[in-house]
Amino acid sequence: MDHHNGAARPLTALITGANRGIGRAVARELHGRGLRVVVTARDAAEASATAADLGPGARGLALDVTDPGGPARAAAVAGRVDVLVCNAGVLLDAGADPLSVSLDLVERTLNVNLLGTWRVAQAFVPAMVRRGWGRVAVVSSGTTAEFGGRLFAGTPGYSISKSALNGLVSLLAAQTEGTGVLVNAVNPGRVRTRMMPGQERLPEDAAPFIADVATLPDGGPTGGFLTEQRDRA
Ligand SMILES: NC(=O)c1ccc[n+]([C@@H]2O[C@H](COP(=O)([O-])OP(=O)(O)OC[C@H]3O[C@@H](n4cnc5c(N)ncnc54)[C@H](OP(=O)(O)O)[C@@H]3O)[C@@H](O)[C@H]2O)c1
Repeated sequence: MDHHNGAARPLTALITGANRGIGRAVARELHGRGLRVVVTARDAAEASATAADLGPGARGLALDVTDPGGPARAAAVAGRVDVLVCNAGVLLDAGADPLSVSLDLVERTLNVNLLGTWRVAQAFVPAMVRRGWGRVAVVSSGTTAEFGGRLFAGTPGYSISKSALNGLVSLLAAQTEGTGVLVNAVNPGRVRTRMMPGQERLPEDAAPFIADVATLPDGGPTGGFLTEQRDRA
C-alpha cells in the first residue's frame, strides 16, 4: 500500500452513498486492498449494516450530502481521511426534454450531484492539503461533455449536473496543485444498479478502476476525467 511520507499506516477512505450500488462496491474494493473505510449513507442503519458486512476496518457513518452541516459533522467524527470517494448521486429526470424538464427536478439534482460533492470536498480537502497528501475520486458520468464534447440530452438535469461536477473537479485540482492532493473525475461506464437496472456490467466490475483513481501514486494525474480503457482488442 502507498504510505505517505514513509509512515507505515493504513490509509483511511470515506465513500459517500456507500450503502448500495457503485459506492458499496468501491468501499468493498478499497477495504479489500487494506484501507480502512468509512462507509457513509443517508440512512445511519444502512451505513452501519454495510460496514458490518465488510468486517473489521470498516465503520458506518450517517451522511446526507444535501445537509448543509452534514459533511462538517461527519469530518469531525471520521478522524483523518486520506481518500475521499464522492459517489452519492441521483438521476431524477430520465426521459425528460431540456425544453420542458421541471427545473425543480434540475435543482434537486444539482443539490445532490454538484453541491453535495462540493460540500463534502469543502469538509475534507482542506485537511488533506494541510497534511500534504490526499486523493479525491469524484464519480462522474459519460453523459457529460467530457470537457468539450456534446451533452446527452435525454437526462438534461443529470447531464448538466455531472458536467458541472467535472468543472468542480477542475477547480479543486487547480486549487490543490502541488500540495500532494490529487483530484480526478472518474467515469464508471454503465453499471447495473438501482439507477441503471438494465445494464449488464456489475458494480464490482466498475469498482477496481474507481479504486485505482482513488489511490493514485504520487505524481499521478490531477484534474482529469478518467475512463477505464476497456473493450480494447
Ligand atoms: N449506474 C450507472 O450506470 C452510472 C453511470 C454513470 C455514473 N453513475 C454514478 O455513480 C454514482 C452511484 O450511482 P449508482 O449507479 O450506484 O446508483 P444507486 O444505486 O442509485 O446509488 C446511489 C447512491 O447515492 C446515494 N445518495 C443519493 N442521494 C444522496 C444524498 N443526498 N446523500 C447521500 N447519499 C445519497 C444513495 O443513497 P440511498 O440508498 O439512501 O438513496 C445511494 O447510496 C452516482 O453518482 C451516479 O450518477 C452511475
